[in-house]
Amino acid sequence: MIVKGTIIHTPVLGSVEIIHDGLVAVDDDGQILHVHRTESGEYETCLAAARADDQLIELQRGQYLLPGLVDLHVHAPQWPQLGKALHLPLYDWLQQYTFPLEARYADLGFARTVYTSLVENLLANGTTTVMYFGTIHLEATKLLADVCQEQGQRAIVGKVVMDNPDQCPDFYRDESCAVSLDETRAFVDYVSGIGGKDSDRVLPAVTPRFIPSCTDEALLGLGNIAQEYACHVQTHCSESDWEHDYVLDRHGLNDTQSLDQFGLLTDKTVLAHANLISPADMTTIRDRECGIAHCPLSNIYFSNAVFPARKALDAGLTVGLGTDISGGPRADILSNCQAAVNASRSLEEGVDANADAATRGMPDSRIDYLEAFWMATVGGARALDLQIGQISAGYRFDAIVVDTELPDSNLTTWDDLDTAEDILQKIIYNADRRNIAQVWVQGKLLKSR
Ligand code: GUN
Ligand code: FE
Repeated sequence: MIVKGTIIHTPVLGSVEIIHDGLVAVDDDGQILHVHRTESGEYETCLAAARADDQLIELQRGQYLLPGLVDLHVHAPQWPQLGKALHLPLYDWLQQYTFPLEARYADLGFARTVYTSLVENLLANGTTTVMYFGTIHLEATKLLADVCQEQGQRAIVGKVVMDNPDQCPDFYRDESCAVSLDETRAFVDYVSGIGGKDSDRVLPAVTPRFIPSCTDEALLGLGNIAQEYACHVQTHCSESDWEHDYVLDRHGLNDTQSLDQFGLLTDKTVLAHANLISPADMTTIRDRECGIAHCPLSNIYFSNAVFPARKALDAGLTVGLGTDISGGPRADILSNCQAAVNASRSLEEGVDANADAATRGMPDSRIDYLEAFWMATVGGARALDLQIGQISAGYRFDAIVVDTELPDSNLTTWDDLDTAEDILQKIIYNADRRNIAQVWVQGKLLKSR
């Protein structure tokens, strides 16, 4: 298959690459073989051959080919709660709303209904890869992996571990540490074989919810499983004052230091939030090659601070974006690109209008739309250690086609005013699911309008 169209992507942090009328050759396994520019000597031959073999897919006027969006942090069971219950701080929100909702996934019928709806909706929003937290339930979380497998989404899925009786209610807790570890192994084994031996589109993650919800024994056991299987790890890290202080109290360490002691910081670990990390924590996270899921909308409600995205990127950390459904009230990654830029601007400018302008904010904190888009694609890909996030030879063809010329949309473009780079900026700020005309994962067309 050859896809012909204008490619907009950001392989290098802070800059955009535009390939006008590029030809993207994709093999039967969904791998990009090569990308030809119009000036390439092979362009015309490649185009003619594709036409002759009826292998050409041409984008229409006003359509652009972008990498699929990567969401590094979704709580799948919280989908029914999206857009509500955000008036409480983290601890109370978990205990009063979230744990009771998650407990319902003992019911597999309910799980299938919700997870089918979630995966459909995220794909429709152009999210081609998601790192999911399930619930404590082994069977329902296997079902979540099944639904991703069936619908064709790229996913990393984890059975949530919560075995600490001090922090987890009786109605929503693993029976014991031994059960937490046995079920994690069973889950990793199940997902590892899910698409047949050649498929790696759906992968497992070891998933301690966060330090408060786990006993030390469970954290240690999960660290061992992560090392043994060399699989992904996901957890929350230094998200809010309450949570960060709880870990300091219990372990005398920051989350980062504590997770490291349990062997949970690997090059396949994604730390959600990481808002309150110290400069030394940043160094540890970089040295261990972990990724950070920056969840800018969720952070407004739960974090008590603004994640220093600029500082983290400048320090060489791998940062991607997460919706944190339902801690963040929006399902799509473009909203979170906007929020990441907005939060960084507020951090730079400051918050107290009565404070002196010179001391009101934190200088040099801003990120721009290109950096936000990089996080939404390349940053997420690197955090997950996957060959996705850009339209280049050697990468998987995970892509979206954005239509900028719909009559019923907030996105308008003007031929004589907008460059392709302007169009990317407008897409980030004004496109929504209506504009996502096609969604491709691993060379397979999953949505077409
Ligand atoms: N920390 C532990 N669990 C959660 C959760 O479900 N959402 C968020 N935002 N933080 C958490
Ligand atoms: Fe979360």
